[in-house]
This record gives sequence, structure tokens and C-alpha cells, in this order.
Amino acid sequence: MSAASGSIPVITIDGPSASGKGTVAERVAVALGFHFLDSGALYRLTALSAMKHGVALDDEAGVAALAAALPAAFRDGAVWLAEENVTDAIRAEIVGEGASKVAALPAVRAALLDRQRAYRQPPGLVADGRDMGTVVFADAATKVFLTASAAARAERRYKQLIEKGNSANLPSLVADMRARDARDAARTVAPLKPAPDALLLDTTHMDIESAVQAVLAHYRSRQ
Ligand code: C5P
Repeated sequence: MSAASGSIPVITIDGPSASGKGTVAERVAVALGFHFLDSGALYRLTALSAMKHGVALDDEAGVAALAAALPAAFRDGAVWLAEENVTDAIRAEIVGEGASKVAALPAVRAALLDRQRAYRQPPGLVADGRDMGTVVFADAATKVFLTASAAARAERRYKQLIEKGNSANLPSLVADMRARDARDAARTVAPLKPAPDALLLDTTHMDIESAVQAVLAHYRSRQ
């Protein structure tokens, strides 16, 4: 990282899936006029690309090569893989599962590192993920770790699925949530854990707007 990019503010928002961090991070970015990085989307795009190319999700070198050359773009509120709009495709459960698998491969994480850091542009960046505060932007001045109980997160995911007209089963969502958390926390590279200097925000009993305000207040207190 150059000295110049080090002076560009970054707010890192890490946490488990369905903790609400994506929505909170996006709203904080809008409130401050900052850029926004959805790092999970890069892992999802890598998994989708591997599936499309017939590369096995445990073929570390093969998946890392795809990640290094990922023709990904975030444009007009949509996510693109080359010329294909994959905004909905990357949100499928099977792609999320695949993302969690390829994210455990060190060469894949390394291949995505520079791409993530390149999002640090003036006037600032809000970065959403699992290892934003611990690895990718370890020098960030403002770090938040957003969490909620597995039951609360499963219920939020359940409501989202039902609203979109999908069928869903709450007990199996709770089980999936716990399994994904366990895999993200247990992996040897960049496990899901709060940075020592992160603000811990438990949103089990908090709505999105209160969480946004808490992050903004924390950011301002660090200026
Ligand atoms: O946040 P999202 O659910 O889109 O992330 C998909 C998967 O990508 C996660 O389950 C996690 O395994 C992985 N991921 C990661 N590091 C990040 C962001 C996501 O390992 N910074």
C-alpha cells in the first residue's frame, strides 16, 4: 500500500452472514459519500466463475487463476461477470456455499487482495466482509464487527426468502447459518474474528437505522 492510499479513510465492517452488515455498510457509505466494497461478492463471483468453467471448488491453483483474472464489474447497481449480469445469480444459496469453500483457499484469498485494496479511493471507503479489519485494511482507523444471534440472523434470512416468494425452512436455515459460521471461523487463513481494535455491535435487538447511526457515531468519534 502506498503512503497516499494510507491517508484515505476506510471503515471496515466485518461479521457473519445475515448480520445486516451489507445493508449497514452501504447506508454508511451513502451517508458519507464514500465508495463501497462488497468483498463477499468477489468470493461469490469467483465461485460462480469456477462453476461456469467446470473448475472444481477445491482445485486451489485453478480457482486462484480464475480469481486473479476475474472479469468482474459493479455498474449501475448491478454485478457483472464479463458481459453477463449476475446480480441475482451470485445470491443463490449454492453460490454462497461455493464462496465459503473457495474462501478457505489461501491462494484464492491472495489473488483477491490487491483487487480489494484498489477500492481505497478518495474521499473514502466502506468495506464489508469477514477480514476487512484484520487483513485487507488492517490499518483502517475505524473498524466495526457486526453480529447477531444465529436465530435472529436465520429469521432475517427467512423473511427475505419468503418476501421474494421462495420457500424456506427456519430450522434448516439456523443449521446452515451455524455450519457456515463454523467454517468461516475455523479456517486457518483469515478466519472470521473481530479485529482487536474493532467496535463490537450486536444487532440482535437493533434495527438497521440504529446500527447505521452507531457506526457513523463511532467513525466521527475517531476523527
Ligand atoms: O458476505 P457474503 O455472504 O456475500 O460472503 C460469501 C462468503 O464469502 C462467506 O461465507 C465467506 O466464506 C466468504 N468471504 C470471505 N471473506 C470476505 C468476504 C466473504 O471469506 N471478506
